[in-house]
Amino acid sequence: MKTGIYYGSATGTTAEIARRIASMTGVSDADIHDVADTAPHTAGDYDLLILGSSTWGNGELEDDWYDFLDGLRALDLTGKKIALFGCGDETMSDTFCNAVGILYDRLKDTGATFIGEFPADEYHFDKSAASDGAVMRGLLLDEVNHPELTTARLRRWTELIKS
Ligand SMILES: Cc1cc2nc3c(=O)[nH]c(=O)nc-3n(C[C@H](O)[C@H](O)[C@H](O)COP(=O)(O)O)c2cc1C
Repeated sequence: MKTGIYYGSATGTTAEIARRIASMTGVSDADIHDVADTAPHTAGDYDLLILGSSTWGNGELEDDWYDFLDGLRALDLTGKKIALFGCGDETMSDTFCNAVGILYDRLKDTGATFIGEFPADEYHFDKSAASDGAVMRGLLLDEVNHPELTTARLRRWTELIKS
């Protein structure tokens, strides 16, 4: 299964997580893409798309995602799998990792199958667009307050999406 990782990152946190996911899943550097300087049609080359965004503003996507996401939505993603991840800050408790929920909402009608849901009960927040009740739409990481939890979460999640 050919895997591509696409990320948007304002200060480098999500970019670093993308590289860690790549090394845990055996994805080569050439298949890690910053959405700021990648054409959306390249996503057509992959069977599994691992998509990551930090959350900015008042619960918004990282800026570089907007144009890329429009291009991605124009593709037929039928038969592809998508796994979502995001970096955020639990103290922004009404918008925690909203970007993951925004990616899900905007891609859910593209024909792709979503994998990599993660349990909600290990996070502390009031509201998140990434939440679907008991599960989150993808892997959420809080490198601001809980970096010590990241390695174990990455291991669990990468095993989940590889299986
Ligand atoms: C101005 C500002 C607004 C933010 N808004 C949110 C938010 O609404 N929800 C959230 O979970 N995190 C929010 N964050 C936290 C960032 O998503 C977090 O620091 C993340 O690790 C940044 O990743 P990046 O360097 O890849 O962009 C915000 C951070 C800043 C500085």
